[in-house]
Amino acid sequence: MMHNSTTTSVDALQQVIHTTHTHTNGGGGWEQCWKQGLTPWDLGGPTPLLLHLHRTGSLPKGRALLPGCGTGYDVVAIAGPERYVIGLDISGHAINKAIQLSSSHPNSSYFTFLEADFFTCHPTDLFDLIFDYTFFCAIEPHLRSAWARKMADILKPDGELITLMFPISDHVGGPPYKVSVSDYEEVLHPMGFKAISITDNELAVGPRKAREKLGRWKRSSVSPAKSAL
Ligand SMILES: C[S@@+](CC[C@H](N)C(=O)[O-])C[C@H]1O[C@@H](n2cnc3c(N)ncnc32)[C@H](O)[C@@H]1O
Repeated sequence: MMHNSTTTSVDALQQVIHTTHTHTNGGGGWEQCWKQGLTPWDLGGPTPLLLHLHRTGSLPKGRALLPGCGTGYDVVAIAGPERYVIGLDISGHAINKAIQLSSSHPNSSYFTFLEADFFTCHPTDLFDLIFDYTFFCAIEPHLRSAWARKMADILKPDGELITLMFPISDHVGGPPYKVSVSDYEEVLHPMGFKAISITDNELAVGPRKAREKLGRWKRSSVSPAKSAL
């Protein structure tokens, strides 16, 4: 499914991630990948589908978070007077690169980059929108419940979680770890999230075609604890 050079780069990325243990939640491995330029996931520009949602006015306004933002193209692409965007990444190298690439951008007062671990970060305010692309598949699968808990903690009660689900496949190992819609449902339903829509991503890039789905999630007004009474 992947081109040879990409496969080699993914193999090298997995090797580094699994042999570097200098930080909680795999941060040391990710930092090493960034330092060595092992970033086969990086599209070199904004994600076409996110750009499309932005341009068609289909994204919530207000405060947005992009966890595991990497080089931050998506952060810059959707920032503006109506939406303040925070790009967060555990790798200082990635964050420095994102800052360098974006500092002279005309929208620079509408976004910021933060070096932090998603699982232990404590944002000062809740978010109207969280967009996850290639972050869920990057974390160890045993962290997925914690991922969903954190999403519920830092999203406003009426906020929206948008997941661009990738890679939908049946390969073994990772990162990227394989994902399925039910993998998301399994951890998001207990947190009270329900899918508003799940659609194929017709704008997926190159080898990602037919391996991505867009999921839009909101919480029902009754909390899971109350509805169980
Ligand atoms: C596969 S890359 C995707 C980057 C970006 N979303 C993209 O598509 O270009 C995953 C990113 O998540 C970051 N990351 C991994 N674990 C993290 C954590 N616990 N908290 C924040 N960022 C993390 C890595 O440093 C890496 O930049």
